[in-house]
Amino acid sequence: MKYRTMANVGKNLSLLGFGCMRLPVIDGADAHIDEAKAIQMIRDGIDCGINYIDTAYMYHGGNSEVVVGKALKDGYREKVWLADKLAAWYAKEPEDLDTIFEEQLRRLDDDYIDLYLIHNIDEANWKRVLRLGVIDFVKQLKEDGKIGHYGFSFHGSSAAFFKEVLDYTDWEFCQIQFNYMDTHIQAGLEGLLYAGEKGIPVVVMEPLKGGKLIDELPPTVQAYFDQLGSTRSPVDWALSWVADFPEVMTILSGMNTPQQLVENIDILSVSEPNSMSDEELQILENAAAEYNKLIRYGCTKCQYCMPCAVGINIPTIIDYLNQYSQYAGSEKIVNDFKMFIQPTRKVPSTCVQCGKCEDACPQHLKIMTAMSESAAIFEQGENNAR
Ligand SMILES: NC(=O)c1ccc[n+]([C@@H]2O[C@H](COP(=O)([O-])OP(=O)(O)OC[C@H]3O[C@@H](n4cnc5c(N)ncnc54)[C@H](OP(=O)(O)O)[C@@H]3O)[C@@H](O)[C@H]2O)c1
Repeated sequence: MKYRTMANVGKNLSLLGFGCMRLPVIDGADAHIDEAKAIQMIRDGIDCGINYIDTAYMYHGGNSEVVVGKALKDGYREKVWLADKLAAWYAKEPEDLDTIFEEQLRRLDDDYIDLYLIHNIDEANWKRVLRLGVIDFVKQLKEDGKIGHYGFSFHGSSAAFFKEVLDYTDWEFCQIQFNYMDTHIQAGLEGLLYAGEKGIPVVVMEPLKGGKLIDELPPTVQAYFDQLGSTRSPVDWALSWVADFPEVMTILSGMNTPQQLVENIDILSVSEPNSMSDEELQILENAAAEYNKLIRYGCTKCQYCMPCAVGINIPTIIDYLNQYSQYAGSEKIVNDFKMFIQPTRKVPSTCVQCGKCEDACPQHLKIMTAMSESAAIFEQGENNAR
């Protein structure tokens, strides 16, 4: 296993971190973790040198923390940095933050979290974080000796907003979504480099875009990877590309089979920063461009179409539709969509075809058609009356 130094605190972290959001489950039920298998995999990973374990309050319906706690018994806790995340959106009042934190410790059966992140900062959550004083709360936890270091995970809409959050306080680390397809969304490459300039260690999530970059590749994308006679697998291409950035400290992958664990350990046991050749980097750039040709609607997320008259989140639904046509693992996209739409959000079939969005769209996209297509793809078997 390769290690990189978290320079600001002088610790070595494994280049591969174990993301505990996609642990093996029984009967496809997300909350029903296959405990024996998951515990064995986490311990095997640690035995092979992984020392960064990432969980969160909400993963697997709260059971990820419980299983991680169990996996870290029998001497494993001392071998790792345990990262957990505060889901501030469950808090209505500042006092609720402490209730959540104490519940996390109870689930983990622990009294200390090494790396504590404010979870999922986006524009809406950021307002809540500021209103509830969440940053002061995590700093106080550090002063009280309950956590080691504080950071945040980011899913906001732009590098500019990422920089604003990063500059707001003296964060000790951060976590961003980053892979060779996501260089220009969320924090993106610009955000990664900015954090690097500031000396803030970056943990990467979704290096395989949740697995979408390795399911059956479109033939035109595969053709690029077949160039140079390279023997790299799609996983190797994707992980090595992320590891090539010296600004990246740890790469989290959610692994749910022992084979995935072994493969990812093997890849990140040899990856060095700045080691990919220009030809290899070009191949990945070409592959990304090829994937992007499969985008169905050229939405720039300018939001001119919003607000929708009936409350549909048009840009996000178009994004799912585009991903559906880009990635062969389309079942994953349907599942992601269902998770996104679940709480109280409006499904595309509630579109009343008023056309106001199309009038406003500077790209002249056929948004009403996109809503009908999305409904047909994503709402099969659903109760569309929500
Ligand atoms: N803070 C946040 O807001 C946030 C958000 C997302 C993730 N995270 C954290 O970051 C971690 C990493 O993100 P991620 O789980 O999306 O990572 P990822 O590595 O992009 O995707 C994981 C998925 O990729 C597939 N996979 C992994 N290794 C493979 C291999 N060797 N061969 C074939 N398939 C492989 C598996 O898909 P299949 O299931 O299809 O086998 C697995 O479920 C998460 O587990 C979580 O801890 C945090």
